[in-house]
Amino acid sequence: MTLDATATGGRTPAGPAQTRRYLMCRPTYFTVEYAINPWMDPTAPIDTTLAVRQWEALRQTYLDLGHSVDEIEPLPGLPDMVFAANGATVLDGRALAVQFRDPERADEAPAYAGWLDRAGFEVHEAKHVNEGEGDILSVGGLLLAGTGFRTSHAAHAHLQEVFGRPVITLQLVDPRFYHLDTALCVLDDETVAYLPEAFSPGSRAVLRRLFPDAVLAGMADAEVLGLNAVSDGRHVVLPAQATGLSAALRERGYDTIGVDLSELRKAGGGPKCCTLVLREREATK
Ligand code: ARG
Repeated sequence: MTLDATATGGRTPAGPAQTRRYLMCRPTYFTVEYAINPWMDPTAPIDTTLAVRQWEALRQTYLDLGHSVDEIEPLPGLPDMVFAANGATVLDGRALAVQFRDPERADEAPAYAGWLDRAGFEVHEAKHVNEGEGDILSVGGLLLAGTGFRTSHAAHAHLQEVFGRPVITLQLVDPRFYHLDTALCVLDDETVAYLPEAFSPGSRAVLRRLFPDAVLAGMADAEVLGLNAVSDGRHVVLPAQATGLSAALRERGYDTIGVDLSELRKAGGGPKCCTLVLREREATK
């Protein structure tokens, strides 16, 4: 079927799906025993078996789409280690290690850095608080970097030094959307989807300027962590509950695949949080 540009809101996805290499961490030790974001309630019951099942379905979704998935060994006592996006930022075969804001997650940083080093990536030490792909998203030749809750502004300058790419600082203002990847999703090299209310007025203006064609998400979809989605340029894996966003993306010509990560959402995480993109060095760019 050829998509009619008018029926797809005037544009079609920038290109074909890119085959990706992902790093994930099985939620063997997942629970909610501390609260470092407003989603976390340590008194709420957690079903770890269900969390593992939901995570396995996400992993299988990636494999079915043709992507490859590496796994890092989960460590006991690190219940949030499942959120692999926070493990590093990996681009051009280079990895910037993380430094967590909260001591509860501190020991995850060397575990991820060690894995990446052994996997052959050139690991750069973190100098400031930065929570990896949770707050740092690559789009086209740019890096979008969130700040306000976790990743510090100082880390943005370091990021630019490490990767040699322009870094665009985005100010997050709503504590429920504490990481950039809860408020904005990169769809392809040219487009993003985001929740305008999650950003300061200046950052909203920057986003409008950079991405005039962006998909604007509504609060109902953001509140089920709908923007915490993973796109390979054509297929968008997102929380099944984000029905409005899914319809809007389909209208633009993306294929959407809903997954249920309700158990992990109790810690404030969705599909993107569970997924670190491993980008090898490219010949061009
Ligand atoms: N409980 C974790 C935290 O607050 C959730 C991390 C979600 N990860 C993400 N990339 N948004 O740090």
